Amino acid sequence: MSLKGKHIVLGVTGSIAAYKSALLTRLLIKKGAEVQIVITPAGKEFITPVTLSALSGKPVISEFFASGDGTWHSHVDLGLWADLMIVAPATASTLGKMAHGIADNMLITTYLSMKAPVFAAPAMDLDMFRHVTTQRNLEILRKDGVQIIEPAEGELASHLEGKGRMEEPEKIAAILEKFFTQGTELDKIKILITAGPTYERIDPVRFIGNFSSGKMGFALAEECAARGAEVLLITGPSSLSLSHPRIRRVNVESAREMHAAALQAFPGMNAAILSAAVADYRPETVAEHKIKRTEGEGITLTLTPNPDIAAALGAMKRADQLLIGFALETDDEEPNALRKMEKKKLDFIVLNSLRDKGAGFGHDTNKVTILSRNGEKQSFELQTKRETAKEIIDTVFIGDGHLSRISCS
Ligand code: CTP
Repeated sequence: MSLKGKHIVLGVTGSIAAYKSALLTRLLIKKGAEVQIVITPAGKEFITPVTLSALSGKPVISEFFASGDGTWHSHVDLGLWADLMIVAPATASTLGKMAHGIADNMLITTYLSMKAPVFAAPAMDLDMFRHVTTQRNLEILRKDGVQIIEPAEGELASHLEGKGRMEEPEKIAAILEKFFTQGTELDKIKILITAGPTYERIDPVRFIGNFSSGKMGFALAEECAARGAEVLLITGPSSLSLSHPRIRRVNVESAREMHAAALQAFPGMNAAILSAAVADYRPETVAEHKIKRTEGEGITLTLTPNPDIAAALGAMKRADQLLIGFALETDDEEPNALRKMEKKKLDFIVLNSLRDKGAGFGHDTNKVTILSRNGEKQSFELQTKRETAKEIIDTVFIGDGHLSRISCS
């Protein structure tokens, strides 16, 4: 009964694969979930609400209005009731409507009111799935946080072979189970994450900065929170946004502000991941007024060192705390990273090389090697920053005994 007491909204749309949603309903119920089915008008052409309501033990919702007497189904209530929503099968049309907010049926209004995580399991013909429009819509939905359960390869209703078959109900049920159990892996763990660049003021309108976007740190924050951790994200100026109830965001501008915020918070944390690209130097003085241009003359800025946040946390680290740093290198990568791990007393260092295409600042992807104080080394292929975040969390927290080392009080 791994889904015991979980409220799941199952959206069913007009696809041959709708028959599989009957089996999915049964599996979810068997695992202890309560299932409320919302079906589109086209969905009813493929499977009857009678079958689905018998299996789910609840009337299937399809229309905005419950009857001719003015009572109506509240999609807002469903959005609050659910612990999770899954649209399976999700047709190209429904995916398009979800991506663009075309709320012309009960399923889409429910999706737009949903407070819980949403999954979608596409089902369609291979050419429809491959079409640039469908792929664009899927990309929009992924960016909106919808988790897409990729369709499988195989024989399709059109008798063509290819990618487009809705994933099997057993696999979907297993993914949802994993989602609920995974969300508790880092339960009660408090993690400090630094992210983004720092800006070091020259005068009221200018600064010294770097090209860091904050994407890696934000992906780590989201991944940690998704697994149940309480995250304190201290970020330099970044245009990225996030909204997870377990992420507290503190915006800072300069290295010194980040240093002060991190040092204050660290004693109350179980771990810190330092992904910020902190400026090593700042102008010695900040001009009070905008520095004026003097024709034909240059200016000289004197720079003074900034505090090293990682080294400061390393010096105050207790035995029950984990410290993870990053090293962005252009040459002599591994020896440089190992030196930094030693010098800053880090437990792990995540190395990315600017020589690798798609790694480092600004990209949505990264290619990293994780080195540990115990001499372990793991290299990963180029992957999205969210996937990289997963690998980092798996290695540093879930890997052998690391989690038990840090206190859970
Ligand atoms: N770091 C930090 N505070 C600083 C500089 C770096 O916390 N003032 C952290 C980074 O967030 C990263 C690690 O230290 O986790 C290594 O950062 P990096 O810039 O690669 O190392 P530096 O010590 O600045 O060395 P260098 O710039 O000479 O390569």
